[in-house]
Amino acid sequence: MKRSAANSIVQLLVKSARKASGGARSRRGAVGMKGIGIKAAANVLPRLRILAVLGVAAWTFFLYVHFTVISSTVEVSNNGDGLAADPCRGRYIYMHDLPPRFNADIIRDCRKTEDHWGDMCGFVSNAGLGRPLAAAADDGGAITGEAGWYGTHQFALDSIFHNRMKQYECLTNHSAVASAVFVPFYAGFDFARYHWGYDNATRDAASVDLIEWLMARPQWRRMWGRDHFLVAGRTGWDFRRSSNVNPDWGTDLLAMPGGRNMTVLVLESTLKYTSDFSVPYPTYFHPRSDADVLRWQDRVRGQNRTWLMAFVGAPRPDVPMSIRIRDHVIAQCKASSACAMLGCARTLGSTQCHTPASIMRLFQKAVFCLQPPGDSCTRRSVFDSMVAGCIPVFFHTGTAYEQYPWHLPKDGHLKYSVFIPDADVRRRNVSIEAVLRAIPPATVERMREEVIRLIPSLLYADPRSKLETIKDAVDVAVNGILDTVAGIKNPPSLFAAIVSRFRPRRSWKAAR
Ligand SMILES: *[C@@H]1O[C@H](CO)[C@@H](O)[C@H](O)[C@H]1NC(C)=O
Ligand SMILES: *[C@@H]1O[C@H](CO)[C@@H](O)[C@H](O)[C@H]1NC(C)=O
Ligand SMILES: *[C@@H]1O[C@H](CO)[C@@H](O)[C@H](O)[C@H]1NC(C)=O
Ligand SMILES: *[C@@H]1O[C@H](CO)[C@@H](O)[C@H](O)[C@H]1NC(C)=O
Ligand SMILES: *[C@@H]1O[C@H](CO)[C@@H](O)[C@H](O)[C@H]1NC(C)=O
Repeated sequence: MKRSAANSIVQLLVKSARKASGGARSRRGAVGMKGIGIKAAANVLPRLRILAVLGVAAWTFFLYVHFTVISSTVEVSNNGDGLAADPCRGRYIYMHDLPPRFNADIIRDCRKTEDHWGDMCGFVSNAGLGRPLAAAADDGGAITGEAGWYGTHQFALDSIFHNRMKQYECLTNHSAVASAVFVPFYAGFDFARYHWGYDNATRDAASVDLIEWLMARPQWRRMWGRDHFLVAGRTGWDFRRSSNVNPDWGTDLLAMPGGRNMTVLVLESTLKYTSDFSVPYPTYFHPRSDADVLRWQDRVRGQNRTWLMAFVGAPRPDVPMSIRIRDHVIAQCKASSACAMLGCARTLGSTQCHTPASIMRLFQKAVFCLQPPGDSCTRRSVFDSMVAGCIPVFFHTGTAYEQYPWHLPKDGHLKYSVFIPDADVRRRNVSIEAVLRAIPPATVERMREEVIRLIPSLLYADPRSKLETIKDAVDVAVNGILDTVAGIKNPPSLFAAIVSRFRPRRSWKAAR
């Protein structure tokens, strides 16, 4: 989507540039003739005229150079011969072969998290997917390891992504031809093993070591790390201790000089830095083939949804009252006969309150799934519910609309979701049920179709096999990275910057 939009903008620019440079050329001709013929007239406004001539000439040159480069790239990628025959052209990625202390050894520390988050060891098995789900009584065998379902931890993306990248079709060992460099450091697992009860130096040790290692490689000097990317499968706040409200939270990986230069994929962007991009939380479903995906889409399309709405989650008593929306959502759900809830009290050492199968069963039985913010704005549950074909109901723009720029539609949020501002619920006691009941059935049908259409790009396919044609979340993210690095290599020109000022961007921000 992003690509085709970018292409059509390029085409538009090429067209208008041809017009502009043609016009400029003929005007320059006229100015030149007059300048030679009528010297007296030229004395009237000499400075202005020289300026005009220089200006037009500069623009002509600029537009000429700029758009011959762009249009030749467009042409090369369009005709199927010569260099363009290489399908990996412009898509090569070099993956650093990091010493095991930066990934495999970190996973071996999985027991370190036991006291606070439960033993992670079970969750890092099967290429990061966790343990296969066993058949449950009443889901007809749809949610089992056999069918691609695993007890995946929400913070397991570091290793899932790494293992998927090993399968990337355009890997190269020649970093000179690579468009981007992947750094398979397990930043999220590194956070978890030292978060509780360790000092700053211990928490940052692996990050400092990594940056030193990277900066000593020849690949770093090419763009000072600006073409490097890594996956830190938690929120962006977890890796910027020195700029956090709480100076005791997280590592400082992304605030270090080298860390700042890299692009990072996180589950929730802080929205304060241009280098972090959010990608979907991993869900429990990891298909192995296109057929697995299509079969699942058919299944959720055919479900009888007996509940109008559903909520899975715990209250958040620590969140300040002024923004605490969950209490209201839970109270409304409890009071409604059309709402199903899997509530739970959070306890230390437990990572989740319900089995994946019971969560996924409920989401398949509900038309709308309520997704109020918790500790932070984003939720794994958003992705679990969408994979079940349940239409998400958001209360905060930071939960999805401001996140996931590559995986969720940038415009038309209301085509796949419902938005009820949290202040309406907290202050005006707006009835969620009434809002949802007021949506006409045909609209609901269309929204659900849109959610089902989005499912493939929200999934992380099983890294040990390969989808044939369907693009999963990793494919989408890699495209986003390649576009981003290309944008850093060839920063948008002054002309494009002016044009883009007329395009509405992030207009919802104004509404906050
Ligand atoms: C890169 O080199 C490694 C080890 O020498 C080899 O196993 C791997 O297949 C190579 N990868 C590519 C894409 O050529
Ligand atoms: C840890 O680092 C943060 C900033 O990154 C700092 O504010 C805090 O004082 C440090 N804590 C200790 C105990 O040194
Ligand atoms: C980060 O990139 C800038 C150029 O964009 C460069 O000047 C700087 O030295 C880089 N930092 C490191 C630590 O390489
Ligand atoms: C949905 O309900 C209809 C009619 O009650 C029934 O025929 C159908 O088998 C049900 N479908 C599923 C997937 O349960
Ligand atoms: C909110 O509205 C419901 C009915 O929709 C009502 O029962 C409840 O008392 C109201 N709560 C407050 C705090 O006004």
